[in-house]
Amino acid sequence: MRIDIITVLPELLKSPFEASILKRAIEAGLVEVHFHNLRDYTSDRYKSIDGTQFGGGAGMVMMVEPIDKCISALKSERNYDEVIYMTPDGETLKQGIANQLSLKENIIILCGHYKGVDQRVRDHFITREISIGDYVLSGGELGAAVLCDAIIRLIPGVLGNETSALTDSFQDGLLAPPIYTKPREYKGWKVPELLFGGNFPEIERWREEQAYLRTKERRPDLLED
Ligand code: ADE
Repeated sequence: MRIDIITVLPELLKSPFEASILKRAIEAGLVEVHFHNLRDYTSDRYKSIDGTQFGGGAGMVMMVEPIDKCISALKSERNYDEVIYMTPDGETLKQGIANQLSLKENIIILCGHYKGVDQRVRDHFITREISIGDYVLSGGELGAAVLCDAIIRLIPGVLGNETSALTDSFQDGLLAPPIYTKPREYKGWKVPELLFGGNFPEIERWREEQAYLRTKERRPDLLED
């Protein structure tokens, strides 16, 4: 998989890809992540990427031309499955979206800034708009990092234990059950006895029940549909 990220602040985005699982995935060649600085696609001497709003109003708007040049240059090299715009008014990121996107070959992610982008960018280039939650960030970069992390960990071979992404919270529509490790007892706090019995069908039933109870208590909305 290849991810091209278009941003005015590449330095804000790079560090999540230089550590831990994302770094290993890149080093193993399971994913390529490329950063494109929008200012490299400007044509005036000030390297302008934004302008004031027609019709008046506070806040600067990202111009269509540098974005067009950048996206068109990428598209001339290969086909893209999705051109995603990170924006608080997009569809809210859910596990299912990450699952779908992890199956794609090439995607572009455009990070918004200031007030956002000229509507013509959204009308003519963007195939999908994603928000990471109902709050406003100062730019799309942190959202793009969250989206990339959620996608990349699902690519086969990225996580050590192939099954562990499948048992995440949300993968079966439920939150994950409680988990325990050594020691069996700490300060008098005990691990549930049944986990030591070796009765795996019983353990599985217990986990399913705990997942259901936890979901019912914390996120009843997930049980609605
Ligand atoms: N840009 C600003 N706020 C955002 C959000 N909540 N999600 C994605 N991109 C954003």
